[in-house]
Amino acid sequence: MNAVEKYLKQHQARFVRELAEYVRFASVSAQPKHTPDMLVCAKWVANHCKQIGLEAKIFPTAGHPVVIAKTPRAKNSKKPHYVVYGHYDVQPPEPFDLWKTPPFAARIEGGRMFGRGTSDNKGQNLAHLKAVEAYLKTGTELPCDLTFVIEGEEEVGSDNLAAFLKAHRAELKCGAVVVSDTGLPSVKLPALTSSLRGIAALEVTVHGPSRDLHSGVFGGSLENPAMALCQLLAQLRDKNGRIAIPGFYDDVVPLTAFEKKAMRRLPFDERAYKKFLGVPELFGERGYAPNEQRGTRPTLEINGLTSGYQGEGSKTIVPSWARVKITCRLVPDQDPKKIAKLVHQHLKKICPKTVRLEVEYGHGAVPYAVSPESRPAQAALRALKKAFGHEPVLLREGGSIPVISDFKRILGADALLVGLALPDDNSHSPNEKFDLDVFRKGQLMSAYLWQELAGG
Ligand code: BES
Ligand code: MN
Repeated sequence: MNAVEKYLKQHQARFVRELAEYVRFASVSAQPKHTPDMLVCAKWVANHCKQIGLEAKIFPTAGHPVVIAKTPRAKNSKKPHYVVYGHYDVQPPEPFDLWKTPPFAARIEGGRMFGRGTSDNKGQNLAHLKAVEAYLKTGTELPCDLTFVIEGEEEVGSDNLAAFLKAHRAELKCGAVVVSDTGLPSVKLPALTSSLRGIAALEVTVHGPSRDLHSGVFGGSLENPAMALCQLLAQLRDKNGRIAIPGFYDDVVPLTAFEKKAMRRLPFDERAYKKFLGVPELFGERGYAPNEQRGTRPTLEINGLTSGYQGEGSKTIVPSWARVKITCRLVPDQDPKKIAKLVHQHLKKICPKTVRLEVEYGHGAVPYAVSPESRPAQAALRALKKAFGHEPVLLREGGSIPVISDFKRILGADALLVGLALPDDNSHSPNEKFDLDVFRKGQLMSAYLWQELAGG
């Protein structure tokens, strides 16, 4: 182990340079213009895996390719096998003007690397690769066989990964799926995440006149689709922050008293939180603390709202249509298909006859929860403590990783969510960054984890 720790220490500067290289690919899965970048990035990952001594292959899917990389292993290896999951795709970088330096330039300042994907998720999956590199390059025997699954569609819902998992079920059979794609409250509070919210995405268009019309000549005599859509949306939430859609909360499993108590133990400073978010006041479902609202309650959010003229100056029109992108975050035992249907039906019911409603279903993910008391979870807690030098906390996170429930359903494998993103990493926001101290500690955590999982 000493040799591994020493290797990690000695090669940190190069690891940081490699992360910068990785970040320079604009692997934006949501934008078709970046499709070529996806393949180039996947090739870089596969090559990198080969360089550190893994057997790596790129598999095409119906969407973006997935990279599979395996540690060298004996034919009839008796070692425990674990899958390490991560994603090389990133969220769109827009709005560009809010970035201090270009999103794919990988600027380093004050012990942090800035750039889209540094934290979510390139830095986090590279940390695991570096830990494995340290074992392989120092000739230290890895106590486990590992298979990396690094995909390119996480940020768009991982629609094609389930089919891949099914097709490779036998070789991916494993004790658990290790994932660093969640958060930790601070460098002094490493965390194991025990639940993730699910998601149901919808795009709703309200159609009015067959074309944009002069708002002076015709306005007043016909419906304005933007106004109709706003009035529809306004009915979806009541003043207590509850989603006003019949049946929406039916399948929500309430927290136990034990879980509630555990959540209240997490540090929370309302003033600091407000300041950090840049909001004058907090808002959330009444009767729940902010951490509960984020991690354990379902939501309906407007992610994008478009209609009419948005260029410079003014244009006096009644727009022909208005569109909204909606996602609901879900908690156990809500079902994404059922929730999407409930939202759709309710909108249909309350939609005025003056417009035509069009609803398109998007991606979905089932919420996920796992006991933090299992043996692998305990091993992960020990590895976190050793690497960070502090007692880890348990988190219920609000984000989603669609494929986690697929791993459970298809492979029967639970996830060990050992995230490395700090709350101020700005994931999905301008000026995303990754803390290079967390990067280093994450590598150590991964190195210790394989020892702990194999039995100390
Ligand atoms: N890494 C996040 C998920 C996450 C972040 C979980 C923080 C817990 C804490 C992941 O890359 C992500 O952003 N997922 C998307 C999935 C969606 C597009 C289907 C999400 O949660 O919005
Ligand atoms: Mn993300």
